[in-house]
Amino acid sequence: MPATLLRGRLLSFDRAPEGPDDAAAHTYLDDGGLLLSDGLIAARGPFAEIAAAHPEAGVIDHRPHLILPGLIDPHIHFPQLQVIASWGRQLLDWLETYTFPAEAEFADPAHAAAMARRFCDRLAAHGTTTVAAFCASHPASAEALFAEAARRDMRLIAGKTMMDRNAPEGVLDTAQSSFDDSAALIARWHGRGRALYAVTPRFAITSSPAQLEAAGALAAATPGIHVQTHLSENRDEIAFTAQLYPQARDYLDIYERAGLVGPGTLLGHAIHLETREIDALAATGAHPVFCPTSNLFLGSGLFDAEGLAARGIRSGVATDVGGGTSFSMLATLAEGYKVLQLRGQHLSPLAAFHWMTRGNAEVLGLADRIGTLDPGTEADIAVLDARATPDMALRMERAETLPEELFVLQVMGDDRAVAQTYIAGRPQKAA
Ligand code: GUN
Ligand code: ZN
Repeated sequence: MPATLLRGRLLSFDRAPEGPDDAAAHTYLDDGGLLLSDGLIAARGPFAEIAAAHPEAGVIDHRPHLILPGLIDPHIHFPQLQVIASWGRQLLDWLETYTFPAEAEFADPAHAAAMARRFCDRLAAHGTTTVAAFCASHPASAEALFAEAARRDMRLIAGKTMMDRNAPEGVLDTAQSSFDDSAALIARWHGRGRALYAVTPRFAITSSPAQLEAAGALAAATPGIHVQTHLSENRDEIAFTAQLYPQARDYLDIYERAGLVGPGTLLGHAIHLETREIDALAATGAHPVFCPTSNLFLGSGLFDAEGLAARGIRSGVATDVGGGTSFSMLATLAEGYKVLQLRGQHLSPLAAFHWMTRGNAEVLGLADRIGTLDPGTEADIAVLDARATPDMALRMERAETLPEELFVLQVMGDDRAVAQTYIAGRPQKAA
C-alpha cells in the first residue's frame, strides 16, 4: 500500500493531564503531517518536513480539522445495538424485558453477521476504532464480530458472554459449554491479526459458581488475557448478588475467589463500592469502567472518578451501548462531565480527550499500540470537525483556545463531528 500523508492539526497525549491547563501532557502540531504506511504511523512532524522527506506519499488535507488517535470504547455490548432507547425500569427489569430477547436472536449466524457489519459501521462513523465488546452467549455472535473486525483489520477485544442461570433459556449456556465454546474461540481468535479475546462472564447473577470457576480456569490458561464483567451497578443487583453468594465478603470478592481479578480485568460500572472493594481494586490493578450515559439512563448512580483515581485506580470510560444511549465517545464524555458535576468533580476537556484515547488504551494495556499518534503505533485515527453543525459553528466563533474547542466537541459533538476515521491506515467514510 503506498504511504498516505495526513495534513491537519495533530493532537496526541503523552500522559494524563495534571490540571485543566496542563499543556505539557500532550503533543500538538498546528500544521502537522502524519505519515501512514502498512497500517502503522510511520512518522509525525511539521507537515513541510514530513512532506519533503516523503515526496512519494499521497497527501490528504484535513485542515482545519483536528487529527486525533481513534477513540476507544472499553465496554460495549455488540448484540444490544438495537436495544438503545428502550423505555422504562432499572437494570434487572431492563435486562429481562428488552436485552435478553434481543440477544437471543444472535443464535442465528446470519443475523449476527448482518448486525456485526452494522455495528462496525456505526463505530467507525463515531470515530471509534477499538472496542472491548460483550457478544451474546451464542458462540456464533462472537465469531461474526471477530470475522467482521478481521475484514476491516480493526483492533478488537471481544468475548462470548458466559451466562448459565437467571435468564431465559434462549440466552443460557452451561458451565461446561461456556468453557468449551470460549476455549475454542480463544484458540481461533486470540492474537490473530489485531484480535484479542476477553473471558466474559456477564455478572455474578447470571453465572453459577461452577461457571465462574470455569471462567477463572480460562483466564489462568492464557496469561495476560482480558476478563470483562459487571460490578456493583445497581442496588437491587447488589442485594440479589449477595443472596446468591452468601459466603462472599462483597461483590468483588466473588470474582476474586474465582481468579478473575487482575490488571487485565475490566469491571463495568463499579458505582456502589465498599471500602474493601476499593482496596482490592487498588491492590490488584483491576479497572473500573465508567459508563455515564448508561448510569443516567438506567438510574444506576454516580461514578466516583476522583475518589478512585486518588487511590491510584485507573478507570476506563465507555458507552455501554445499549444501556448506554449513544455510540459516541464524545457524547459519552459529555454525560460523564455532567455526572461528575453532580459529585462536585470537574472533568477538564484535556482530561476527557486523554481518557477516550490514551487513557482507555492504558486501561486495556495497549498504549504501546493504540491511543496515541506516536510513530510505530497502529494507524487508527479520528478526524474531528468542531464546526460540524450550525450550533457548533456558532459556538466556535467565540472559542479561542484548544481546550475550548475540545469542550465544544465533547459537549455538542457526535458522529456529525467525525470528518473521517482511519482503521489501520484505511479511510472508513466516503471522502
Ligand atoms: N449487567 C449485566 N448485564 C448487563 C448489561 O447487558 N448491561 C448493563 N448495563 N449491565 C449489565
Ligand atoms: Zn455492560
